[in-house]
Amino acid sequence: MCIAMLYNIPTGCKKIDETLEGGIPNRKVSLIYGEAETGKTTLAIQCAVNCARQGYKTLFVDCDGTFSGLRLSQIASRDLDISELIILMKPNNFAEQAIVIDRLTDYVTKHFGLVVIDTLTSLYGAEIAEHPEKTFELNRELNRQMACLAQIARIQRITVLTTSQVRSVFNEVLVSTEPVASRVLKFWADTIIAMKPTENTNIIKGTLEKSPKRLQPLTCHLRIEETGIHEYLIH
Ligand SMILES: Nc1ncnc2c1ncn2[C@@H]1O[C@H](COP(=O)(O)OP(=O)(O)OP(=O)(O)O)[C@@H](O)[C@H]1O
Ligand SMILES: [Mg+2]
Repeated sequence: MCIAMLYNIPTGCKKIDETLEGGIPNRKVSLIYGEAETGKTTLAIQCAVNCARQGYKTLFVDCDGTFSGLRLSQIASRDLDISELIILMKPNNFAEQAIVIDRLTDYVTKHFGLVVIDTLTSLYGAEIAEHPEKTFELNRELNRQMACLAQIARIQRITVLTTSQVRSVFNEVLVSTEPVASRVLKFWADTIIAMKPTENTNIIKGTLEKSPKRLQPLTCHLRIEETGIHEYLIH
């Protein structure tokens, strides 16, 4: 079978895709970060489905154990055979996550278009909670994993999408949120999308904070619904 060359992978959120010239950039590492239930996993599944629609496989590394077949079928809608193109791996701890990332070049053959690591920082966070004395070492390991992902994206010509939870950052006047291990993640990610909750639980404020072309940040509203997460126009 001849497969067309893979371009950027649509997120399914119109304004973000238009600004990113089609979607999540190929051969680069991208990051989606935000508080719990802001649609990070939904958006990652949506990218996997859109990658499958172009005929390419996704390796979905489910570090939280939250990947849902039901959610996939809702998002894939009538394209039911798409699930065959999404390969799931579930590391149980940060050491297993490291092994998965180190062996990606063995798993990711030419029919793969996307690697998702969801959530990249959850097993890292759990390990730090258990061994706070190893924080420096674990942070260095996370940096190594991101470097490895950036190299695989470039050499294997693949799209890498990571997600992260947030931590609150306090200063004198306001409280803001940053991705966990912010410095490491923001250094390696060429594209960054922040997901923020609003007063309406189904409506999320999405901000494209960083893009490969260094455009001005773009903000839009997104609605989480049965079929996934899509742009929502506020009238
Ligand atoms: N079929 C559906 N229709 C509408 N909303 C749904 C549906 N399925 C899931 N949701 C909602 O989508 C929201 C986002 O879930 P998702 O798992 O994508 O968030 P997340 O940012 O990955 O969260 P976490 O940080 O916990 O991993 C949840 O509030 C959930 O209730
Ligand atoms: Mg999630």
